[in-house]
Amino acid sequence: LNIAVLFGGTSGEREVSLASAETVLGALREGGYKPLALDTGEPRWWGRLGNTDIAFNIQHGVGGEDGSTQGLLQCLGIAGTGSNVLGSALAMDKLRSKQLWRSLGLPTADFALVKADTDVDALLSEWGAAFVKPVAEGSSLGMTRVNSAAAFEAACESAAVYGEKILAEQFIDGPEYTVAILGDRALPPIRIEATREFYDYEAKYKGSSTSYHVPCGLSVQDEEQLCELALKAFHALDCSVWGRVDLMRDGSGNFQLLEVNTIPGMTDHSLVPMAATAGGLSLLELLEQILLLSWE
Ligand code: DAL
Ligand code: MG
Repeated sequence: LNIAVLFGGTSGEREVSLASAETVLGALREGGYKPLALDTGEPRWWGRLGNTDIAFNIQHGVGGEDGSTQGLLQCLGIAGTGSNVLGSALAMDKLRSKQLWRSLGLPTADFALVKADTDVDALLSEWGAAFVKPVAEGSSLGMTRVNSAAAFEAACESAAVYGEKILAEQFIDGPEYTVAILGDRALPPIRIEATREFYDYEAKYKGSSTSYHVPCGLSVQDEEQLCELALKAFHALDCSVWGRVDLMRDGSGNFQLLEVNTIPGMTDHSLVPMAATAGGLSLLELLEQILLLSWE
């Protein structure tokens, strides 16, 4: 089987993808595979796919994770890892994800698409505080926690760097949990304890100030509920093969869906490799499962 690893891209998460690719390429090579490494930041990279049978897609963000690459591969008749066009596009769009979950009765914090006439004072008085973020971006890029109208405006400017559409979401002060999905199975959930204001880009990739807890410390019943919700949310968006569902637990003990990542980070700071280890899978076994599930 000829495997190509697609990485890089041109999104704001390019650097993260380079680090993820290092992990993926390293593990595959150690496992005896000879993957073709393709940096998709180079124009017309697809002309170099040659006799690739399957592309292991480890691009994060717009272009690589949003259905574009998935559609391109489909047109070229080359298998690719992970979710299909629809699942990728829906998961990349936090607004559509939340609208879909709401319509199915799945829990997610209150939200609003920011428009010129958005009544910020009304939102803040109802919510207390808000997260302002781009609708389609990852790794917390362009995301700010705000509790005043002035801060809200500045936050919108930061978010606008990453795209036209901006989402405001009710702030939840709970611990954050993440559930890695492999096929129809949820891997052991992880509880994230960030010492910064929230689990931002710095906390995700740079610092060592974040603690990760697996086992996550929930009761067996609550953990089951968390995994079940994560799987439902994943399938509701038509996602498949692998991914990671991020959630928070609110003050009343209810889990609230944040987002689905269809190509989650695989850096040495990342959570899916951690969850796989806790689930008894080596990195290579995880990658082979992803390839196999995508090939079927
Ligand atoms: N968007 C980053 C890569 C993640 O979810 O891990
Ligand atoms: Mg993300």
